[in-house]
Amino acid sequence: MDITKIFNEKNPDRPVQASPHPKVRSPNWDFSDFHFSSPNPNATENNQFRRAYLVGLSLLFPEGERFFIRAVRRYANEIKDPQLKKDVKGFIAQEAQHGRQHEILNEQIFGSRYEVKSFLDQWTGFAFGFLENFAEKYLPFGGGKLEVAVTAAAEHFTATWGAAALKSPSFAAFDSQSIRDLVYWHAIEEIEHKHVAFDVMREVSPNYFLRTGAMLITTALIGGLSIWGFAHILKQEDKIDWPEFLKALRYESFEKDGMFRQFAEAFVTYFKPNFHPSDMDDQALFDEFANLIDSRIEKVA
Ligand SMILES: [Fe+2]
Ligand SMILES: [Fe+2]
Repeated sequence: MDITKIFNEKNPDRPVQASPHPKVRSPNWDFSDFHFSSPNPNATENNQFRRAYLVGLSLLFPEGERFFIRAVRRYANEIKDPQLKKDVKGFIAQEAQHGRQHEILNEQIFGSRYEVKSFLDQWTGFAFGFLENFAEKYLPFGGGKLEVAVTAAAEHFTATWGAAALKSPSFAAFDSQSIRDLVYWHAIEEIEHKHVAFDVMREVSPNYFLRTGAMLITTALIGGLSIWGFAHILKQEDKIDWPEFLKALRYESFEKDGMFRQFAEAFVTYFKPNFHPSDMDDQALFDEFANLIDSRIEKVA
């Protein structure tokens, strides 16, 4: 066996499934139908675990996605393939929209109940004030290729998160239509552009060890930051309903469509030589929700 064929990720023999291509949508939700509790006992709004999970993750999105844009944009002019060039533009436009919508949600809605500013300042200061500069100066491949590889790994997680969110009964059980719209919209676009940062990375540095090394860094970062955000929100709750909390934690960790279990499986899959995000076939799920969300955006516009 030719070992270079395994670890050279530009292997032309590798079959790649067609992925959807990013389409730019411009939703305009104000989230005024979201309330922190609901008279409906089964509404996800009432669950402290899921609320803290949603808020903590949402607080990571705007600046996290701006980092992804910076990383990919650096190489935009070096891309030769015309379709990938187009997809890079679509990726940047989609991530910019995600950042804007999550910022409205974070500042106007979540910020009205929770103190979010100190967490936003601290995590962005750590990640982009310290870590991004440190990587650029001191880490191998830092200042370009490493950032793209970290983005490709993070995008594998967000696409996995997206597919899991579309199937998750807990997101479907939000009373707030605009939260469901936001989650499904973000989820389908993560699926739609899941190949973009990965293909840019394959163009600029098709190296198995860079790709998987970046996955280790990304897992530690996303894991650490999301636990930090989750804890920051949870400690502001008056009284925690532990039985409900543990029930949700157990579900997300062990059930087949649980978010944490999906993340763990996504992590393992990424180490397969010649892995490509388009290998994960979520086309049918994507089609169903893309149609739904396109009609929702038309209705709200
Ligand atoms: Fe996004
Ligand atoms: Fe993304």
